Amino acid sequence: MSTTYTIDTATSRANPTPAPMKRLTVPAVRARKGGEPLVMLTAYTVRMAQLLDPHCDILLVGDSLGQVIYGLPSTLPVSLDMMCAHGAAVVRGSYHALVVIDMPFGSYEAAPELAFESAARVMKETGAAGVKMEGGEAMAETVAFLSARGIPVMGHVGLTPQSVNALGGYGARGRTNAEHVRILDDARAIAEAGAFAIVAEGVVEPLAREISAAVSCPVIGIGASADCDGQVLVAEDMLGLFERTPRFVKRYADMATVVSEAAAAYASDVRSRAFPGPEQVYAPK
Ligand code: KIV
Repeated sequence: MSTTYTIDTATSRANPTPAPMKRLTVPAVRARKGGEPLVMLTAYTVRMAQLLDPHCDILLVGDSLGQVIYGLPSTLPVSLDMMCAHGAAVVRGSYHALVVIDMPFGSYEAAPELAFESAARVMKETGAAGVKMEGGEAMAETVAFLSARGIPVMGHVGLTPQSVNALGGYGARGRTNAEHVRILDDARAIAEAGAFAIVAEGVVEPLAREISAAVSCPVIGIGASADCDGQVLVAEDMLGLFERTPRFVKRYADMATVVSEAAAAYASDVRSRAFPGPEQVYAPK
């Protein structure tokens, strides 16, 4: 599907052609359990949102923006200000997908009331339809608190990057029986608390399948299983913008080469004075 944008100069809003269908809702996403797989990608900027939106059911403004956009060593330093600014840009750039914003580390774990305050700010400032938070049984009370107060919550279990210090790294989870049982219980707890969907990240495949079968909401896998109810990837990973491709990523493009080659051609043109050419300069009247 090809979408073009016309800028409305009064509002600076980019209006898409053809007109998109209605934005997906949380109940519509929930109803996809066991049906057509949900397509989810991360987006952090307006232009990427515009390009990805026609193809996605859900756009996730992930706190992975800490590494991808800001070059931070992990997601831990990401702030609510960052999530609100990027979240609002993605909502402005999308018309079809449900937009979900990650709650950053430290903005929700301490108490349900803190989580509500942070999530309400995110919803007000971005216009997104829901938030995502990491954690299992320990977060169930918070998921229930928010869900009962009009804030749809997407859960996130298995490899939870905000807990990298406690986990000791980013390796796949669920390899021991004890961990397998704990992660399954985590998923059940937040599903029962009212999560409308759950991301299962970096879990061994049989566990991903078991989680999907055990809970009533859609399970969206990353490094999990094709049998999940949907899949998510960091868009820059699948576009090939980084040199390293993790095992769970399939590269659909080689954007790093495209960007490097374009920059090299531009540099060469500038140095040889081939740019700007006659077409890029203004003639006097
Ligand atoms: O922050 C993020 O991008 C995520 C996805 C990888 C699920 O949480």
